[in-house]
Amino acid sequence: MLYPDSYQVDGAGRISLGGIRIAELAERFGTPLYLLDYATLVHRVDAYKNALNRMDPPGTAYYAGKAFLCRAMAGFLAERGLGLDVVSGGELATALAGGFDPARILLHGNVKTPEELEYALSVGVGLIVVDSIDELRLVDGLAGTMGKTAAILLRLTPGIEAHTHAFIQTGQFDSKFGFGMADGIADRAMEEALERKHVRVIGLHAHIGSQILESDPFLANAEILFRFSQQWHHRNGWWPQVLDIGGGVGVHYGPDDTPPELDDLVNRLSMIQSEWTPKGCAKPRLLLEPGRSIVGEAGMTLYRVGAVKTVPGGKCYVSLDGGMGDNIRPALYQAPYVAVVDGASGNRTMEATLAGRYCESGDILIDRARLPASIRAGDLVAVLVTGAYNYSMASNYNRVPRPGVVLVSNGQAREWVRRETWEDVAALDEPWQAVDPEGFI
Ligand code: LLP
Repeated sequence: MLYPDSYQVDGAGRISLGGIRIAELAERFGTPLYLLDYATLVHRVDAYKNALNRMDPPGTAYYAGKAFLCRAMAGFLAERGLGLDVVSGGELATALAGGFDPARILLHGNVKTPEELEYALSVGVGLIVVDSIDELRLVDGLAGTMGKTAAILLRLTPGIEAHTHAFIQTGQFDSKFGFGMADGIADRAMEEALERKHVRVIGLHAHIGSQILESDPFLANAEILFRFSQQWHHRNGWWPQVLDIGGGVGVHYGPDDTPPELDDLVNRLSMIQSEWTPKGCAKPRLLLEPGRSIVGEAGMTLYRVGAVKTVPGGKCYVSLDGGMGDNIRPALYQAPYVAVVDGASGNRTMEATLAGRYCESGDILIDRARLPASIRAGDLVAVLVTGAYNYSMASNYNRVPRPGVVLVSNGQAREWVRRETWEDVAALDEPWQAVDPEGFI
């Protein structure tokens, strides 16, 4: 849904989240501010868990930390029994600092540095998804040196062009991710992986892209992984314990977005799983790595209007105190968003461009927003469905501090991430010291 579960508007148009007026939250924590609705998070996590638990064997959701991760989020996911997909040493360190069990962590990424792999192996992450032959050899070597055997999945590139923005597609044949299934590349990777002594290939992975609003690409992806597994089963008896079909379903960024229904998708995946498992083999456990569909709709961002301006030609700009530094998605992917205005009175609306504060003409959050005609400087605007890939992609461009993240539930608010200060922005900088005339420092 476009609105978080606890979203409410009273007769005067005043918006609440988690039982607290957003005006009060803005006052208390400042703007811009990322809000997360606890009720929505719980419902989304439980929807995945319940759907996957009905599978035989039960499927597992590994939340994709790239969508949004902080220590408290890791703690929340641990409490609710999810797995976690991390793609860097930083995400892994955050997860561990949040009390997450490394055995339930899966390490992803098309480049993992030797330091990251060593870190992951030493803390005992449960699974490593191998993306290239170079990496296969590196993991095997490191595991050998450490006297370990790494449980790995091979990442395949299934050749599926899902209908989503080109930058967030990953499954097409010429993608930078994984082992291409054409030209025998994936087979050669499999051959080598099975020969290596310090890795154990317990399954396969393929991810087709993100913000996918149809079921068919997910089903096609699963079938491709099963077909590849069958070929290897015929060849030498290998059969996967795990098939990881990548990210979750899309979300409602606008009223016309209709993501696949989770229960229906999982039922259809179960059918594929039964149909494709050879007699005498155990059905592999299916893994999903949902990020956006767990956290996206739980989030919204509060901004204060800085200026309302009509330019020659009549176009109206409503400019906010945040923008591409806290939400790069419109500039990067032309991603659509919906905004609502707190305490909007009257029915008269106007078309306006919701602009950010950053020094780029392209810093536009919503190009043709429908806003109350009464909007003016000082008003509070909430942009919806910003829980995923907003905070996690935020920057300090223009040295603007990044907003904090506040969780709301049942009339209470708790900071999950503190708002940065101007001092924080310069905290890693070393002071200027004169360089001598010879150029020595
Ligand atoms: N697994 C893998 C291997 C992935 O690459 C991704 C997302 C996911 C899982 C999670 O997919 P989700 O359930 O969130 O759709 N920054 C872009 C999205 C990039 C997604 C990258 N991979 C955006 O803001 O739309």
